[in-house]
Amino acid sequence: MIPTREEAMELLLKYNESEALIKHALQVEAAMIHFAKVFDEDVDKYSIVGLCHDLDYEKYPDEHCKKTREILEAEGWDEEITRAIVSHGWGLCSDEKPESKMEKTLYTIDELTGIINACCLLRPSKSVLDLNLKSLNKKFKDKKFAAGCDRDIILKGINMLGLEKNFIFEETIKGLQERAEICGLKGNL
Ligand SMILES: [Fe+2]
Ligand SMILES: [Fe+2]
Repeated sequence: MIPTREEAMELLLKYNESEALIKHALQVEAAMIHFAKVFDEDVDKYSIVGLCHDLDYEKYPDEHCKKTREILEAEGWDEEITRAIVSHGWGLCSDEKPESKMEKTLYTIDELTGIINACCLLRPSKSVLDLNLKSLNKKFKDKKFAAGCDRDIILKGINMLGLEKNFIFEETIKGLQERAEICGLKGNL
């Protein structure tokens, strides 16, 4: 079955208490929703995949993605959703390679939203609303900044999508701006 967003949220909160992880889930969701619109794909599916992509990370960090597959299979979620979620760990904790547009999008924007979140926290406004492409590019190039966010994964994902880096960066910023309040990036603006 394809869960509703409410069901996906309920499951997320069942397995996650960390405010930072829930915020990350909401940010990835925001970017996914935006790209579903850009690509004319299914907004609800992109939303759920974004929300639940790190479902198991808080409780089972050593079994990341594997445990999510178990949980979602037990919940009876569609393989399309489960596979999309699991494939974001390709090369790290999953053998399933991103193939569909939804999978490639998630793979690309997961680490990218992490960098954007770190950029926002540094700004006087603490907001994504006044963040532009130029500042994001500057921080992206500075490998010491948000060093935990793997630039190579982002570039690999963009390559898989066959799109321009600046286009992806700009659209990801837009996605987070559209849901700034929901995903904790409104800051003091
Ligand atoms: Fe993950
Ligand atoms: Fe993530």
